[in-house]
Amino acid sequence: MGLTPRASKAAQYGPLISPARDRETPIYNWHAFKHSYSRDLVKGLAIEFGLKKGAWVLDPFCGGGTTLLACKELGINSEGFDILPFSAFLSNVKTRTYKTSELRRHLGKFYKQSESPQRNTNLPDIKIIREAFSPAVKKDLLRLKSQIATIRNPKIKDFYMLGLLSILESVSNTAKAGGFLRIEKKRISKGEVLKQFLHRVETMISDIEEFDDDSMPSDVEASAEISDSRSLKTKRKFDAVITSPPYPNRHDYTRIYGLELIVGFIKSNDELKRIRYNTLRSHVEARRQFQAAGYKKPKKIDPIISKIKKAGLNNPQVPKMIEGYFEDMYLSLLRMRQNLKKNGKIALVVSNVRFGGVNIPVDQILAQIGEQTGLSTNAVFTVRYRGNSAQQMGKFKRRPSRESIIVWENA
Ligand SMILES: C[S@@+](CC[C@H](N)C(=O)[O-])C[C@H]1O[C@@H](n2cnc3c(N)ncnc32)[C@H](O)[C@@H]1O
Repeated sequence: MGLTPRASKAAQYGPLISPARDRETPIYNWHAFKHSYSRDLVKGLAIEFGLKKGAWVLDPFCGGGTTLLACKELGINSEGFDILPFSAFLSNVKTRTYKTSELRRHLGKFYKQSESPQRNTNLPDIKIIREAFSPAVKKDLLRLKSQIATIRNPKIKDFYMLGLLSILESVSNTAKAGGFLRIEKKRISKGEVLKQFLHRVETMISDIEEFDDDSMPSDVEASAEISDSRSLKTKRKFDAVITSPPYPNRHDYTRIYGLELIVGFIKSNDELKRIRYNTLRSHVEARRQFQAAGYKKPKKIDPIISKIKKAGLNNPQVPKMIEGYFEDMYLSLLRMRQNLKKNGKIALVVSNVRFGGVNIPVDQILAQIGEQTGLSTNAVFTVRYRGNSAQQMGKFKRRPSRESIIVWENA
């Protein structure tokens, strides 16, 4: 097995590891899912794995749906799963096939928006909602939400709902900042919500037309469901997995995508917290949900945790989180292996992290854990070095962390 990071892949995959280059790519850019990788990374890996039209790819952490959409373009079928209802929804809306004439037919009703009656809708009373939206913005959002609810065709309804969810950040007093949602006062003028919504859905419709011209295949299967990677429910055997799990860097997706979840999917703070506790233990609020029978903690982990404890930490929960993260990843990798065909391949994009200045070689530890599940490691490619957080930089100077792609085979 090749545990030594191979620098030669850095030039090929390094620039593809972030979603930045897809900021202008139609459909891929329908919602800024900042924790994605790029379309070309998926395409490069699919080619490297020799996947042909009609093959099946799994993404158990489908996030913004990049794997599913890129596979669809290549004529490769895919299934995606994510614990966040918003991610499953976003992946589905991006990968469906639409008739733009049908979508356009509904646009008119939103132009007449001010005349339409407001249905009895509200948002759950959660602190972040009170902080994020002024009463006027909230009222406009609710009016649009209630109008979208009247659309009978579920596919069209979802399409418009994504239009609404994807303007939330810009009409709110928040900004997605790394691992959390920062409160940031903005001036939102009267009529801004409707203006942004209409601009967004019209752009989305033009994007589909543009892609149709480029012949996006419509006979390819792509779908996403809400599911936990540790108890994945699919009967299919896949040719490959192309994915990126949460990194153990304390980012909590239920907070980063809190507005989208609250406006679109959940009814109470308790429901939101339940999802938070169920996410992978990559942040300190997630809770242990599964027993990982058969998991043996890699020897590297304890000495690293002792060093981190000695370095002194802001949050005493971090060591427990790190242990939990690797246990959860064991179960996730086990499910991937169980759903992989013989000789099927897995590409997992991960980043190493630092706490108290101590480096955790997440890539190397995960490579070993994958082997515990019966996979054989083909390679750990180093693809990029990421700068540390401003907070860590101040304390420990510039100490970049390695981002890698681990490749296993179900040999
Ligand atoms: C790094 S992101 C994936 C990004 C994705 N590859 C893309 O290009 O958009 C990790 C995802 O894992 C999801 N996640 C966290 N815990 C999970 C769990 N237990 N099961 C499934 N998904 C989970 C998060 O909601 C998030 O969408």
